[in-house]
Amino acid sequence: MADLVLEKLRKSFGAVEVIPSLDLQIEDGEFVVFVGPSGCGKSTLLRLIAGLEEATSGDIRIAGQSVVSVPAADRGVAMVFQSYALYPHMTVRENLSFGLENIRMSREEIARRVEAAAKMLQIEELLERRPKQLSGGQRQRVAIGRAITRDPKIFLFDEPLSNLDAELRVLMRVEITNLHERLGNTMIYVTHDQIEAMTMADKIVVLRKGVIEQVGAPLELYNRPCNMFVAGFIGSPRMNFVSGAIAEATEAGITFQAPHLPPLGVPAMAGKVRAGEQVTLGIRPEHFVLSNDGNGWPLQITIAEQHGANSYLHCTTPGGAPILIHEAGQSRIGRGDVLFAQPRMDQLHLFDAEGRRIELGESEADGRLGAGLP
Ligand SMILES: Nc1ncnc2c1ncn2[C@@H]1O[C@H](COP(=O)(O)OP(=O)(O)OP(=O)(O)O)[C@@H](O)[C@H]1O
Ligand SMILES: [Mg+2]
Repeated sequence: MADLVLEKLRKSFGAVEVIPSLDLQIEDGEFVVFVGPSGCGKSTLLRLIAGLEEATSGDIRIAGQSVVSVPAADRGVAMVFQSYALYPHMTVRENLSFGLENIRMSREEIARRVEAAAKMLQIEELLERRPKQLSGGQRQRVAIGRAITRDPKIFLFDEPLSNLDAELRVLMRVEITNLHERLGNTMIYVTHDQIEAMTMADKIVVLRKGVIEQVGAPLELYNRPCNMFVAGFIGSPRMNFVSGAIAEATEAGITFQAPHLPPLGVPAMAGKVRAGEQVTLGIRPEHFVLSNDGNGWPLQITIAEQHGANSYLHCTTPGGAPILIHEAGQSRIGRGDVLFAQPRMDQLHLFDAEGRRIELGESEADGRLGAGLP
């Protein structure tokens, strides 16, 4: 049982402040994914938790105990690295047992743990091989096995699948999810992969320059990003942003006006914004309704990408702003064509001049739904 609390955690490397002051609570057994741009401090955070890096100030508590002055080996935390970090001159069996011999565990217990981990990860046949005789996926399994044999309270994964090919990534993703189901340990997982973040996480933590921008369940972040940064970071391909102004705000709704585009009337949002206010509208590529009857924004296609099951239409507005549209299936629209696209009213995101989310008519939508129920 191990929950994890980070309190006013700060880390500087010399004069460079990487994590200014971070608070986070992770429940026992949770699968938490850290995402954020390169250099935002994800690996540093994992290394602080693991004890491979010393905090400048603040506290780290595992199962209620402060561990900031506890050495890495005694924290009950095991980390799996992107590079696997296996010992090349040792066999798989030796790699799996090495850390345990160091803490003077009995030979029987070590053998038992190695066998159990090897069985769980289906690498029993590979125990006498050396890392160079293994495929990338097999090496990654050994690296995970090494973490399992330590029986840690918390697993830390730093982009463990990024060196694998696409097919193997999908397999390993499912395996790690299954592993979490089986072991039930607290796990923290860093990735740049949207699908991994969305599908594996109980909770996603979005970081930017060492600061948490938002924490929430994957669909919470997708449906209600708290600002433009999170909105642009969660979801792939990323959300379209169209900047403009509120032309009109009445009881019935608001009118959004972007340069060179027909005005967009949006019902049920009045009261949240004022006429004249500068705002940005956010529309995900999958949230357009296309028509050829002149309804909506006229967009010119610059590239039509056909992926087979999906099409991605790269368009420009009459003002030259880029818009990306996702169309399920195979599109019959091609380069140079003009299409008319209407943003889906129930899926719009609106941000103020500082990029913060403006809630749009939530209560009214809920009210309608409630009223319609038997
Ligand atoms: N030992 C160090 N000394 C000085 N600066 C460091 C050190 N380790 C990391 N940094 C800096 O801290 C910042 C955060 O690095 P970190 O490796 O945590 O980023 P990250 O989010 O894991 O990035 P990536 O997605 O590229 O792996 C970076 O600006 C990096 O240059
Ligand atoms: Mg990193």
